[in-house]
Order: sequence, then C-alpha cells, then structure tokens
Amino acid sequence: PRKIIIDTDPGQDDAVAILLALASPEDVELLGITAVAGNVPLPLTEKNARIVCELAGKPQTRVFAGCEAPLKRKLVTAEHVHGKTGLDGPPMDDPTMPLQDQHAVDFIIETLRNEPSGTVTLCPIGPLTNVATAFERAPDIVERIQEIVLMGGAYFEVGNITPAAEFNIYVDPEAAEIVFKSGVPLVVMPLDMTHKALTTKARIDAFRGMGTKVGEMVAAWTDFFERFDMEKYGSEGAPLHDPCTIAYLINPDLFSGRHINVEIETTSELTLGMTVADWWRVSGREPNALFIGDIDAEGFYALLADRLARL
Ligand code: BDR
Ligand code: CA
Repeated sequence: PRKIIIDTDPGQDDAVAILLALASPEDVELLGITAVAGNVPLPLTEKNARIVCELAGKPQTRVFAGCEAPLKRKLVTAEHVHGKTGLDGPPMDDPTMPLQDQHAVDFIIETLRNEPSGTVTLCPIGPLTNVATAFERAPDIVERIQEIVLMGGAYFEVGNITPAAEFNIYVDPEAAEIVFKSGVPLVVMPLDMTHKALTTKARIDAFRGMGTKVGEMVAAWTDFFERFDMEKYGSEGAPLHDPCTIAYLINPDLFSGRHINVEIETTSELTLGMTVADWWRVSGREPNALFIGDIDAEGFYALLADRLARL
C-alpha cells in the first residue's frame, strides 16, 4: 500500500474521502490525518476528523490539528455549503478518541524526514496552509515527497466561491502558489471533473442500502450536501469532490487528464485564487501538474459503495 497523509477540513465530502482511505488498507496506509481551517474553523475540522475515524471503527488513527488561518489572509469558511458544524446532516456524538499533541505541520515534517525518501504521498483536500507551512519551514522535505494528489482548482467550469476560483485554492492562494511551484509531482482534481460525477438518488440509495451505520451516515451527509448544489446549479445531485483523490490512488484508471502548467493568481482581487490551467499548452511554460479532466463516474461510485460497505 501507498503511505499517505490526508490533510483535510471536514466537510461531508472530506469525511467520505477519509472513510474510503480507512476502508482500503490494501491500497493506502493512512499514516495520519492533519486538520486545517477551511470549510469551518480548526476546532471543528479536527473534531470532525475524529468523529469520522470513530465512525469507521478506527479510533487508533492519528489526528493532528494544524494551522488555524491562511498564510496571509483572513479565513473564509463555507458553512453555507457544509452547515454550521461542517458535518451537518445526521445527529452525531462528540468524539472520545484523542487529538494528538503534536502540531500537524510538525507531524508532516517529521514523517517525511523519517520515512524513506519518495515513499509518502500527501492528499490535501482543504486549503493548502499546512502543506505550504511545512515546505517553508523545512524545505528539505519537498524532494522527499512521492506525489501530491489534491482536490482544488477549476478551469472550464470555473469557480464555486467566486466566479473565478475554487474554494480550497481561494482560501489560501499564497499557500497554493507555494505548492504548485514546489516541483513535487502534482495530481489535481478540479471542479470541472468532480462535477462529472454527481450523486443521484440511486447512488445515495446504494449507501443507505448497505444497512450499516457508515452507509446511513454517508447517505445522510450526501443528502445534506446535495441540497446546496441542487438549489444553486439546478443539478440532479452534488459532486463528491474530495474522495476523488483517494479513488485515484486506489484506481488511477478511473481518471484521465493532461500534464500541463497550472499557475495560481495571488494578486488580482477579481480573480484571486484562480487556477490558470494551460489546458491547450499555449504558454510554453513547463507542465507542473497532471490536471484531471475526466472521471468514470459509474466506476467511482461502484468503488465507493464496495469499499464503504466494509466498514
Ligand atoms: C472543496 O471545497 C470544500 O467545500 C470541499 O470539501 C472540497 O474540498 C470543493 O471546492
Ligand atoms: Ca475539503
């Protein structure tokens, strides 16, 4: 299995990503979960991460709290999408498993230094503050990373938080710029692609039909999460953005994309956080990312249903 760290701001779709990883030990070994401020403030994201681990029956999973604000900006949150707790939907108990004492950024640095070089993959599915802070503080870890598989950005479909920007990149564009310029091999799951794999009634029924607590919770979360997209876009369902990263690590054949150059806008007020993706390779700039354009939606939901049923 590939060793991974999930950096996250749960978030219902983050929760499903964590569950997919915990359900797939033959493919991914989850070294730890690092929480970051994003969808909701840090005290809620670290708590939500622990709720999800307990739900999966894996309270031994290590959860670390990281940065509570973006590198240079005030935190922007997304309660309008995820609800007040970040995991609104079904009623939930407070977690009893502990939060680790170590800071998430220190955990990322220490892990990359201790594990053999080229064997740890980072999966950031929230704003990139923790990862960029680790890079700034310990530049030696950058070349030790096997790959970064992240959810963020938008191109043809463009923004969900502003007309130009996707939420994770918009919240901390300076952090995103550090990561996109780092030279680490990047795989990027943008909105354009996640919007090709919407939930449907049948897909949610498949979760509910598992007859397990996990299936019931995932169905209730997606029911809640859907509401926002259905009202906003008039679409049939909602994209489950974040689990695409874990699905890619389990079965990359579900996805296709192009190696292209992607730069982050950090100065324009109008287009702040835009991922300027050179899909048609017109800039002459060196590719720095595999930008995913397509997903086998049926295969993705079949994988989710198959794996989540194990928990
Ligand atoms: C991203 O923003 C968050 O609201 C989701 O969890 C996902 O990571 C989608 O733009
Ligand atoms: Ca997220």
